[in-house]
Amino acid sequence: MRVLVTRRIDPALLSPLHDVADVEVFEQADDPISQAELLVRCRGVDGLLTMLTDRIDEAVFAAAGPQLRCVANAAVGYDNVDVAAAAARGVQVTHTPGVLTETTADLVFALMLAAARRVVEADRWLRRGQWHAWAPMLMTGQDVYGQTLGIVGLGRIGEAVARRAAGFGMRVVYHNRHRRPDAEASLGVRYLPFHDLLAQSDFVVVLVPATGQTQALFSTDAFSRMKPTAVFVNAARGSVVDETALVHALQRGQIFAAGLDVYQQEPLPSDHPLLALENVVLLPHIGSASVATRRRMVATAVADLKRALTGERPRHLVPELQQQ
Ligand code: DGY
Repeated sequence: MRVLVTRRIDPALLSPLHDVADVEVFEQADDPISQAELLVRCRGVDGLLTMLTDRIDEAVFAAAGPQLRCVANAAVGYDNVDVAAAAARGVQVTHTPGVLTETTADLVFALMLAAARRVVEADRWLRRGQWHAWAPMLMTGQDVYGQTLGIVGLGRIGEAVARRAAGFGMRVVYHNRHRRPDAEASLGVRYLPFHDLLAQSDFVVVLVPATGQTQALFSTDAFSRMKPTAVFVNAARGSVVDETALVHALQRGQIFAAGLDVYQQEPLPSDHPLLALENVVLLPHIGSASVATRRRMVATAVADLKRALTGERPRHLVPELQQQ
């Protein structure tokens, strides 16, 4: 059997695959594989180990051929994979839930704290030599302790964020496709309709998956319902936010600040209007980027790919394929 790994990865993590397949690793620099290169290299493979930067669509499935059994995506999000096209061809798709929950929740909190307390802006300002004297209202921001946190999308990561919020004495409200009585009981979080959550929250954290229903969920209307002191954090996917609306909300002081880890276009274009704003913290999609977690994500994808290739059921099929 043959496997294509689309990015350079510590060979030790790939060793379980060598028992069952010839493994080709695309390791030209650290850039994502181009679509053209992917279409050529995937021909005849039985398994693909992919990254969130790879577009795995019908063209890839067609180029790979009928022996393709599994696409193991080394990320919890899998909006880069056309799951319907995979299902139509009987290809399994796996992702990596669970192993990145706490690491990503840490980063959400880092964004909340940094945006609210102007941490990155103050650091830039100091480095520019602008600190001439301490002043009573110098770089004043918003409190985190004791405030209301609104979580939109209460899955594993949202729950981990809610647990952290308890340590900050925060009141946690949430909005979710399905109400979560279990989390309400165990975490003391309270369900609110979307618009009520926007109006009541001091921090709005979005953790929904990228789907047709969540596309541009955070629109001009959504930002206009938030408090002028609110901090908005997106660690989900860029497509859930109308970035033009967000830029306007930040420019007009409709909200206080934002902390972003993800964007409509990644990498963020160098002329993007967000880059001109002081009241936004911008990170390069590093939510799960601790050494241990990134290694766990690859190990999870490798284990599932090996299971698929040896005829066992992968442990982390994406939810749409779990009934099969
Ligand atoms: C994911 O796993 O989907 C994150 O965006 C990257 O860790």
